[in-house]
Amino acid sequence: MRIAITGYRGQLGEWLVRRLEDHELLLLGRPEHDITRPESIVPAVVGFRPEVVIHSAAFTNVDGCARDPDTAYLVNALGTQNVAVACQRAGAALVYISTNEVFDGTKGAPYLEQDERHPINPYGWSKYAGERFVETLLERYYIVRIAWLFAPGRTNFVSKICALARERGRLAVVTDEVSSPTYAPHLADALARLIETGHYGVYHLTNEGSCSRYEFARYFLPLAGLGHVPVEPITSDQFQRPSKPPLHCILRNFAAAHLLGIQLPHWEEAVQDYFRRLEGA
Ligand SMILES: NC(=O)c1ccc[n+]([C@@H]2O[C@H](COP(=O)([O-])OP(=O)(O)OC[C@H]3O[C@@H](n4cnc5c(N)ncnc54)[C@H](OP(=O)(O)O)[C@@H]3O)[C@@H](O)[C@H]2O)c1
Repeated sequence: MRIAITGYRGQLGEWLVRRLEDHELLLLGRPEHDITRPESIVPAVVGFRPEVVIHSAAFTNVDGCARDPDTAYLVNALGTQNVAVACQRAGAALVYISTNEVFDGTKGAPYLEQDERHPINPYGWSKYAGERFVETLLERYYIVRIAWLFAPGRTNFVSKICALARERGRLAVVTDEVSSPTYAPHLADALARLIETGHYGVYHLTNEGSCSRYEFARYFLPLAGLGHVPVEPITSDQFQRPSKPPLHCILRNFAAAHLLGIQLPHWEEAVQDYFRRLEGA
């Protein structure tokens, strides 16, 4: 299959490139291919004539998006519009990687794929606007929502908490932000299977199970040799940050699991694999 990947140097992009290496790939990254500039992205995609474009590039710093909502909208919404137009002209299907932050976290139960979206911060709004461009401009698309992405050797919640534990010798982590981590190698496997199906639609592809940020940290710190570091449970109102996260925002994988038999392993298995790979590196 001919596949174009945006954001190929990112956490997920790196694993997509590894997982899809047997296909014909067009790798699109900055500065050569900036998704905010139509002239830099549209001709490149159209010229390659891909069957599928996996759009993973984004402004992913959630607090950065809160400080600079215009750039969040430019990259995540209008950048996605550009990629969708490129797909239209190339006759390609699009995989848009989206987020649990399109929801407000007040449902009181895990979110289904078709639940009403109501973002509460600039990152969530910009990704939601990206979803709207995809669903209005294209007929053949997969919107794939994920949460708390992590990959070995990259900067993410796991690596940041481990670094803080080493630096400070003690931690405070929130108990009231709850979701499901998504491990990039497992997600890349699931996406490789999804694009073979041609079964377009909206999917939730996080690892199975859910946890609070606190439970997540308590689980992985011992695997990092940091089980002795005390972790104080706090609530999000005790942790000031520019962006307000949706608090109880678990994504339920209903469609991919029931229709296609695609499910990621439990997040604890993902964390174990993460630390095995770090040790082996
Ligand atoms: N990280 C999470 O916890 C999380 C959670 C939910 C959903 N997601 C979604 O999952 C996807 C992948 O996330 P990730 O963590 O792999 O992202 P990442 O590591 O931050 O990588 C994003 C990539 O996008 C590129 N990029 C940013 N702006 C661009 C532009 N204007 N033109 C072209 N490329 C641009 C970046 O390029 P540079 O290397 O030059 O910066 C980087 O390579 C994103 O769509 C994100 O919204 C992520």
